[in-house]
Amino acid sequence: MKKISGLAMLILLSVSAATVHAAASDAAPRASDWPLIGGNAEVWHHSSSTQINASNIEKLGVAWVAEMPSRDGLVGNPIVVDGVVYQSGPLGRAYANDVRTGKLLWMFAPEIDFGDKQRLISVWSLRYSRGLSVLEDNVYVAAGDCRLFAVDRKTGKQKWEAVSCDIGQDYGITAAPRVGGGKVFIGNVCVDTGANRGFVDAFDANTGKRLWRFYTMPGDPTQPFESKTMEMAAKTWGTDYWKKTRGCVSAWDSLTYDDKLNLLYIGTGSAAPLSPPERAADAGDELFVDSIIAVNASTGEYVWHYQTVQHDGWDLAAVSPVSIAELPIKGKQRRVVMTAPKNGFFYVLDAETGKFLSASNYTDVNWASHIDSTTGRPVTIADARYWERPGQASVVSPAVGGAHTWQAMAFNPATRLAYIPVSVTPTLMKLDPEAVVGGVSVDMYYGSKGDPKWTARGELVAWDPMTQKARWRVMRELPYNSGVLSTSGNLVFQGTAVGKFDAFAADTGKQLWSFDTHASMLAAPTSVEVDGQQLVLVATGNSGSSAAATNLARYTSTPQTRAPSRLIAFKLGGTGSIPATVVQEFPKPPLPRQPVELAKKGAEYFEAEWCVGCHGHGAENVRSSIPDLRLSSPQTHQQFEAIVRGGLRRNNGMPAFPHLSAEHLQAIQAHVINEAWNAYEAQEAAKAHSKSR
Ligand code: HEC
Repeated sequence: MKKISGLAMLILLSVSAATVHAAASDAAPRASDWPLIGGNAEVWHHSSSTQINASNIEKLGVAWVAEMPSRDGLVGNPIVVDGVVYQSGPLGRAYANDVRTGKLLWMFAPEIDFGDKQRLISVWSLRYSRGLSVLEDNVYVAAGDCRLFAVDRKTGKQKWEAVSCDIGQDYGITAAPRVGGGKVFIGNVCVDTGANRGFVDAFDANTGKRLWRFYTMPGDPTQPFESKTMEMAAKTWGTDYWKKTRGCVSAWDSLTYDDKLNLLYIGTGSAAPLSPPERAADAGDELFVDSIIAVNASTGEYVWHYQTVQHDGWDLAAVSPVSIAELPIKGKQRRVVMTAPKNGFFYVLDAETGKFLSASNYTDVNWASHIDSTTGRPVTIADARYWERPGQASVVSPAVGGAHTWQAMAFNPATRLAYIPVSVTPTLMKLDPEAVVGGVSVDMYYGSKGDPKWTARGELVAWDPMTQKARWRVMRELPYNSGVLSTSGNLVFQGTAVGKFDAFAADTGKQLWSFDTHASMLAAPTSVEVDGQQLVLVATGNSGSSAAATNLARYTSTPQTRAPSRLIAFKLGGTGSIPATVVQEFPKPPLPRQPVELAKKGAEYFEAEWCVGCHGHGAENVRSSIPDLRLSSPQTHQQFEAIVRGGLRRNNGMPAFPHLSAEHLQAIQAHVINEAWNAYEAQEAAKAHSKSR
């Protein structure tokens, strides 16, 4: 990223009156660039442009639309440098489009080998990518098979490739790499298998040489620890922890590089296996589960940590974005980090020391009553601790789905409010030793099953970090909506699962504008000024490059918003339009309905064997590159065993499940057939209904 000297800044201001920079950071990017995920190093997702505002927003319309060569709806925050928009896609892909016209300039698509080396986790990860980064002349993008690529940002040609994790050890990557200080940082994911330790790697941005690795949990205690920090952390995992679990604690999304303090803030996931009884009986806090860890960005040495949840059995990962700000707190100007993790509490911590300053819940929370202000630890509620009552289920909110995960939160330096995209997904949790992943059965759709006490929904919350109170809150129809963009035009933009791209007044929450994109959105919008014109850019589509969308189709989209991948630019006076989505037709299933009991068992196996991870709960698909099993042909049904157990489609990314018995297969197939009938009959009923009206 180029820094602008004071003089250059003055010239820039005098030639373009509309170019007003917030003086918050002397490294503020040019208004024509959005060089980093979140726009600036502080990860504000805020544009200093004021051109679009309440007085003219009704004139905001489509400047151009780019149809993107991805079947998986792009979900990363678009990066803009020197007139080019960069985005990542599935299978390690990167795209470059002209910001003036939307024209695709190049696409980077590395060769992917789905052969024998791949494991379930890496094959799964290969479908997902939450973004890329740009530093100087290179684009950095990761593929799910643990590879990190540097690509020339002018030509799209590969410069180097590095391997971070080991796919043979059940790792994958779904996150965007982060850049800063001449380095590229990348974490990984283990999907709660507990097969291995999580870590973050730093690579030299020019050469791809690995510079350091920070583990997020201790290793084998019979071997020497890498550092005093790991020795300290090992004391918190209990007797024989290494025999029971390698804990994982993946750094699967959030990395923030603080260019003032030269710290990398790492957000970590929950412990694996998810079920606490499957971990050491005398376990303590299990460091560094659900934590924000600050490490020295030059060396990877530990500086401080703050843990949000101890002894987690709810999957309350702290991988949500970490933003940095200078705020007056208790009469003192402080540099703070702010984060709104899955657990539903908003945290303000001292950036230099990690000292707990304050926390309060930003949405309804039933697993903890509050955060103790002296210890900084949550006070948990017995009813939520399902693992203490085998055989009984608890409804927990938030839980696995999180009150907020990786979708961008924005911060506006003028209103000093954080804008959080909140998901309310009450979840039924119960110990289940049969579950393949984690030892817990989890029903994330519980909130849409008619229990009047628990209803799934989304929220957009304007949160005051200083008073720890909501300034305003608007409800959203479905739980998972897009990341947020804030602008100095006193605006907040958010896209929704139902396809609306909305703008609100940043100070009051009054809705000012809404546009139907006919496509679901998870990506955070970007705003830049090009030739003196403010553009708002947003990626839309079926969101199939996000694991949450694939898994929970009903909470992230509707049949009307499972659209092809597009990049859309908005400007004042834009007159373009977006075609309505052609809704998926379900033909009459080729096989008769199956016995209900068999299909019910099949639904459980479909969950436990993790078919849901790619094909979606209830085999409901977002129309991504992964096939909708409810559309399976007679031939697919004939080959069901060969495909699922035998690995017939392995080279196309359908893993083999050789351990499945004939009884398992029959039940799973019955579930798929009945779901096909459900989809078909619902469609026919809707047709009859619309005719009769
Ligand atoms: C890691 C992701 C992933 C997982 C997990 C997964 N699948 Fe698949 N599946 C795929 C992909 C990708 C394809 C498409 C392969 C192709 O293009 O030939 C597919 C194809 C299929 C097909 C053929 C569909 C057709 O119309 O041709 C069936 C049947 C199937 N999967 C069943 C299952 C079952 C049952 C499970 C769980 C036991 C499962 N899959 C788990 C990714 C996955």
